[in-house]
Amino acid sequence: MTKVLLTGGAGFIGSHTCLALLESGHQVVVMDDFSNGSAEALSRVAALAGLGPWRQTSAERWTGAEPEGSRLTLFRGDVRSPQDLDRAFGAADVGGGIGAVLHFAGLKAVGESMAQPLRYWDVNVTGTVRLLEAMGRHGCQTLVFSSSATLYGTTETVPIPESAPLQPINPYGYTKAAVERMLTDMAGSAPGWRIALLRYFNPVGAHPSGRIGEDPHGLPNNLFPFLCQVAGGRRRQLEVFGGDWPTGDGTGVRDYLHVMDLAEGHGRALDVLLAEPPQVLTLNLGSGCGHSVLELLQTFEATNGLRLPYTVVERRPGDSAVSIADPGQAERRMGWRTRRSLADICRDGWAWQSANPQGYRGTETQPTPEL
Ligand code: WQD
Repeated sequence: MTKVLLTGGAGFIGSHTCLALLESGHQVVVMDDFSNGSAEALSRVAALAGLGPWRQTSAERWTGAEPEGSRLTLFRGDVRSPQDLDRAFGAADVGGGIGAVLHFAGLKAVGESMAQPLRYWDVNVTGTVRLLEAMGRHGCQTLVFSSSATLYGTTETVPIPESAPLQPINPYGYTKAAVERMLTDMAGSAPGWRIALLRYFNPVGAHPSGRIGEDPHGLPNNLFPFLCQVAGGRRRQLEVFGGDWPTGDGTGVRDYLHVMDLAEGHGRALDVLLAEPPQVLTLNLGSGCGHSVLELLQTFEATNGLRLPYTVVERRPGDSAVSIADPGQAERRMGWRTRRSLADICRDGWAWQSANPQGYRGTETQPTPEL
């Protein structure tokens, strides 16, 4: 059992990874500023992990009931704040301290990054600098970083191996590439660093219970949550961005992976880092299979017995035709590959959406504050 800190652990990928780590026996401290996450998500994670009642013990802290419930603690905090980071690290100082960090905290909307580049450089890059400084103060040198396939840009290589050139085409992708460079430099500057750079392709879906899932604030930037909201009647129709791409049916092709597969991949990467000598491990996390927008839509309809209205419109600026991972390295280095199908993704995504039409908002269980 290792005590791990998840920055941004109340968000979509973070909350699902938190559950996977708890189920593997780890103790988890989460720090999140709730800009794209929710304390309710972790309340439900605690319930799914069987940690008993979840309570707010101060204006900034939530946890489960002793003793089992103390395996999960949540702090409201900003990754750019040394004080917030020290409070989260300090939560585990008793009995050995934080042994590893999984760094999810960051902004991740491509279009938004074009409009707000400085905010993206500040949160994604400066935030990681502050985190690394805090890790130094607390003697922690094991880090799993939430990177992205976006940093490959519009590569012609399909499927994409980790050796493909990094050629980001938007500020979001540039910040991911910059953080990867920063972490590689850190590993080269001092012995002992264990770092995994996990390049996600298209994480989608939800935990099969329907209790946790993706809850984008405002209009969804990405296909799958938008499609789920159309299915739930929250959006009128899906706009398909381009029907003239050089693909089978003319719509964009992507490598969709179930968020629970991705969560388990983080657990495997952590196991490898803790078991092996110091290294920088760079891995694509994807299924290795591509599906078009229309294929995903048709699978969603067939799996859930629904009809989804859509219209084909102009291409979205910055999009590419095809993005598919070569996942061979992840299988070779950590015995991981995706196990869940596109139908599993569609079934589980709809289970979440239909049970939570407005996401977590308005469903918060009123924690009994022991202020
Ligand atoms: C998928 C396909 C669109 C919306 C981005 C980030 C990536 C990762 C996942 C963080 C494309 C089409 C989309 C819609 C559509 N995020 N589409 N109508 O752009 O592949 O990747 O999100 O790590 O880093 O870059 O995902 O879901 O936005 O688009 O037709 O309303 O769906 O053109 O072909 P993308 P996406």
